Amino acid sequence: MKQNILTGIKCTGTPHIGNYLGMFRPAIDRANSTDVPSFFFIANYHALNQVKCVKELRQSIKEVACTWLACGLDPKKSAFYMQSDVPEVFELATIFTNVTAKGLMNRAHAYKAAVQSNTEAGRDADEDVNMGLYNYPILMAADIILFDTEFVPVGQDQKQHVEIAADIAKSFNAVFGQTLVVPKELIRKEVAIIPGLDGRKMSKSYNNTIPLFCDEAELLKCIKRITTDSSAPDAPKDPNHLIFQLFKHFSSPSLEEVASRSGDGVLDTRIGWGEAKQKLFEAINTAIKPMRERYNYLMANYSEVEKILTDGAVRARKVAQETLVRVRKAIGV
Ligand code: ADP
Ligand code: TRP
Repeated sequence: MKQNILTGIKCTGTPHIGNYLGMFRPAIDRANSTDVPSFFFIANYHALNQVKCVKELRQSIKEVACTWLACGLDPKKSAFYMQSDVPEVFELATIFTNVTAKGLMNRAHAYKAAVQSNTEAGRDADEDVNMGLYNYPILMAADIILFDTEFVPVGQDQKQHVEIAADIAKSFNAVFGQTLVVPKELIRKEVAIIPGLDGRKMSKSYNNTIPLFCDEAELLKCIKRITTDSSAPDAPKDPNHLIFQLFKHFSSPSLEEVASRSGDGVLDTRIGWGEAKQKLFEAINTAIKPMRERYNYLMANYSEVEKILTDGAVRARKVAQETLVRVRKAIGV
């Protein structure tokens, strides 16, 4: 059976290790292990509710585009495009507004969080909430459903959005007859929520990220910022600590195995935090070095990337237009 997969990322800032482990790597691994073409894109219109600075948006678009390719996206196999180059998305989003309950949008996490923070601060509940934020899940549903997507590889924080997309597809089918594929999120448990430098979820919004392709000096500086305690180097450490956890995603053997010098097979977590951080730096750096080189090359030769995106949009639009014909027929337009 054909299993369409699609995912995107909004271009707000610089991609980080949480994005890589939670989304880029699993999505690309999955795409590269099947013959069915996948769809990957840059959600530039999703970024617009947050980013209002042209220079900042352009920089982020460039970084996100180069990251996709540096992480191994094969543009011959997958359609790789810019959301704004596929206008069919916006038509479908408009159609979806009519089968989406307002209450469903009221319950979406990002909107609820904005209302809560306004209310707690004694402000009007909707202060600074634009319709881009409110309608975000509808636009995302259009991105997904337009391509008959079955699986959407994402991190845990996007689960609700994909569930909303599924609800919208079901509502549409209930009203207009079986027309749309109902999507499902694809979340790898072990990378669903990668913690950031302060232990909370790694996120651009918390300023606790390790940028994926920063240079070696900055990478080391970030890793040194990870919070540790003052226990002695030969005291056992918590194997659930961020340093041990991150290490596992980049290297096998694990840090426990590296720290176990006795050779008797018994795992040991007695390692100084300074040494552990150095080892983590080496593990991440070794794993991403070839990708970083490719990333730097693409950033310096961005016209090559633009060509790939233009070609990807042509391929994506072909599929999108077929779905829209079906949808228009179903609604009587
Ligand atoms: P951010 O929270 O930094 O703004 P995005 O919302 O742009 O990240 O997320 C882009 C993709 O990366 C989504 O699929 C999201 O689920 C995934 N992702 C983001 N942060 C993490 C994390 N800390 N752990 C796992 N996946 C993540
Ligand atoms: N909401 C996703 C993010 O925060 C971006 C996104 C937009 C997306 N449309 C999508 C992800 C469709 C998966 C499928 O980065």
